[in-house]
Amino acid sequence: METKLWKTGEGMKEAAAALKKGEAVAFPTETVYGLGADATRETAVQKIFEAKGRPADNPLIVHIGDRSQLGSVASHWTETAEKCMDAFWPGPLTIIVPSNNQAASNVTAGLGTIGVRMPDHPVALDLLREVGLPVAAPSANSSGKPSPTTAQHVYQDLHGKIAGIVDGGRTGVGVESTVVDCTSDIPVILRPGGVTKEDLEQVFREVRVDPALLDTEEQPKSPGMKYRHYAPEVPLWLVEGDDQKFAALLDEYKRQGEKVGVIASRELAENLDHSPLIECGSRHDLTEVAGELYGALRAFNRSEVSLILCESFEETEVGAAVMNRLRKAADFTVS
Ligand code: TXA
Ligand code: MG
Repeated sequence: METKLWKTGEGMKEAAAALKKGEAVAFPTETVYGLGADATRETAVQKIFEAKGRPADNPLIVHIGDRSQLGSVASHWTETAEKCMDAFWPGPLTIIVPSNNQAASNVTAGLGTIGVRMPDHPVALDLLREVGLPVAAPSANSSGKPSPTTAQHVYQDLHGKIAGIVDGGRTGVGVESTVVDCTSDIPVILRPGGVTKEDLEQVFREVRVDPALLDTEEQPKSPGMKYRHYAPEVPLWLVEGDDQKFAALLDEYKRQGEKVGVIASRELAENLDHSPLIECGSRHDLTEVAGELYGALRAFNRSEVSLILCESFEETEVGAAVMNRLRKAADFTVS
């Protein structure tokens, strides 16, 4: 299949038409690029799973362009959900609510609930409003790879497998939305993301975190969280410790003959005399690190390096999402 590359503007009509016809189309959101399809048509949704190579037991989230569309996929919702929507929509927050079974069965993977979000990106919102249907959209990467933050990343993974890509430039947040179970009075974070726990605590007296996020033995409530994810082409070792320790490890692996690629903050980079090195912003500005993360994970390939050493970041604010992704991307943590 030829994958079309659409610019925003005129290209949007064609992208919307393809979605209405039941094709899979990639588009930018404020978090990462999504691979969308009509959430009400099983055959359309199937194309997402095939293009990504995604396991069928991992449900998709549905994107809407207007809050009034929530009732098209949800049977009812709590005040918790209302408060989340009031405070964070449009934005990087997915609410889990009871499904009304109007979405195709492969969207929800047989769960009684459905994930819904209204993205905060002009291109995504234009497209969703033009299509007028709930659009199922996981991240537009091959399953297991880092999520795409540019149209080029999507093209690398999915060209020839999907109808087209709307190129809206680089996404902003850089990590995916926060998935929040809103089925009861107390919101539960199932996946950390662009809306932070601290943000939620501005709105709710109590915010819980799915124990599976803290304890690897526990079965996660968000099925996608159990898979190895975000994996670069080369083994990645996550280093916990100070800059001296990082430098010493780097020297040691180099001595052992490894061709090491480094992912580091500007502050650490200034203390290392090493190449190749990808700088991912300041360690004191975790939003910058989040924005650079997936690009950095995609930057190294097997022909250049045999091992990636990556710095750890503080787990406050969006750093919680950054570290959640890095732990899943890492083969090993050196601490
Ligand atoms: O930022 C984002 O959320 C991006 C953009 C494209 O919107 N989308 C995204 O989708 O990251 P995906 O499919 O890669 O991740 C959705 C996550 C998965 O971990 C999935 O298991 C979980 O949400 N999920 C979906 N429906 C669920 C449900 N009913 N209950 C619990 N978790 C659910
Ligand atoms: Mg994903």
